[in-house]
Amino acid sequence: MSGQKIGLLNGGGDCPGLNAVTHGVVGAAKKLGWDVIGFRDGFEGLFPPGDCKLLKAEKTAGILKLGGTILGTTNRGSFSSKVGEGGIRKIPAEIMAQARETLEAQGISALVCVGGDGTLTTALQFQDEGFPVIGVPKTIDNDLRATAMTFGFDSATQVVVDSLDRLHTTASSHKRVMILEVMGRHAGWIALYGGIGGGASAILLPEIPFDYQKVANAILEREEHGFRSSLIVVSEGAAPAGEAQVIADASGQGEVRLGGIGEQVADKISELTGKETRCTTLGHLQRGGSPTSLDRVLGTRFGVKAVKLIEEKRFGRMVSYQQYHVGSVPIKEAVSELNLVDPEGELVDTAKSVGICFGD
Ligand code: F6P
Repeated sequence: MSGQKIGLLNGGGDCPGLNAVTHGVVGAAKKLGWDVIGFRDGFEGLFPPGDCKLLKAEKTAGILKLGGTILGTTNRGSFSSKVGEGGIRKIPAEIMAQARETLEAQGISALVCVGGDGTLTTALQFQDEGFPVIGVPKTIDNDLRATAMTFGFDSATQVVVDSLDRLHTTASSHKRVMILEVMGRHAGWIALYGGIGGGASAILLPEIPFDYQKVANAILEREEHGFRSSLIVVSEGAAPAGEAQVIADASGQGEVRLGGIGEQVADKISELTGKETRCTTLGHLQRGGSPTSLDRVLGTRFGVKAVKLIEEKRFGRMVSYQQYHVGSVPIKEAVSELNLVDPEGELVDTAKSVGICFGD
């Protein structure tokens, strides 16, 4: 149908490739003669009268390569559906009613929601209440099920690899053990890919509870073989066996903020090995900057697919990447369970085969 008006919003933490999705949505909509209305700061932009703007193809030209999001986003606020440690919150009826009022007043026929687990859980509430939505999976953590990859993950991993390359030279000059704390609250994909790609000696993941002594032994064993420096990559969500994750801040709305395990690993490894250690926390450097070519292409494909799903009226579905092909799955399937690293899987086995220690 020509003349259709569709909405687009980005929710959750930002991630390289979000603007590539916008570029894909606007481009595909233009071909159909549709208008795209971009809402600012995620679902918050749906509060009446609506914080939004018409996204013209001429205006979005050139955004493909930009990091961040031209629409703005938030992982806090009235539409947060994830609270505490993995709890689900139902969005209050009066908030949903206000959002519906804006969508109707703007003449929006369907809403494309680009986000991770939390954003898609909120999107599902709109769909369940009768407003047509399409989900697009976004997260540097790569922890969404029902898609083999999310855009943003490759860019984040590249930052980890570049950082390890840099830490490697200073570690070897000073004969130190360098610890790099990376993002990944439930899933250790960033640490695993980054650690393998960057030549880490040990990788500590949320999925594999670790033993400090085993990590220390691996470092001492390397020493015996003449390697006087080592790199350890730690996911922010990793924890020693029997211990809880290290929480940096539990006071805000939404999910608790993790952070601090890297410093603890540095102290303990220094104590057990007698070696000098230093910790670097990579933090939001992993989320900033331009997307890699892979994320630019994946983001564009996801955006185009979202528009095609609207054209086919296949609502309540999330764009999904499987077997080198972009298809779709029900959103419900994507948010039902997280995509975690399999401790017995091929990737961990590959890492162990080249001598990487997981502390287990
Ligand atoms: O979900 C992506 C993520 O990058 C997590 O790995 C991390 O715990 C969180 O976002 C940090 O979010 P914030 O921007 O609120 O610090």
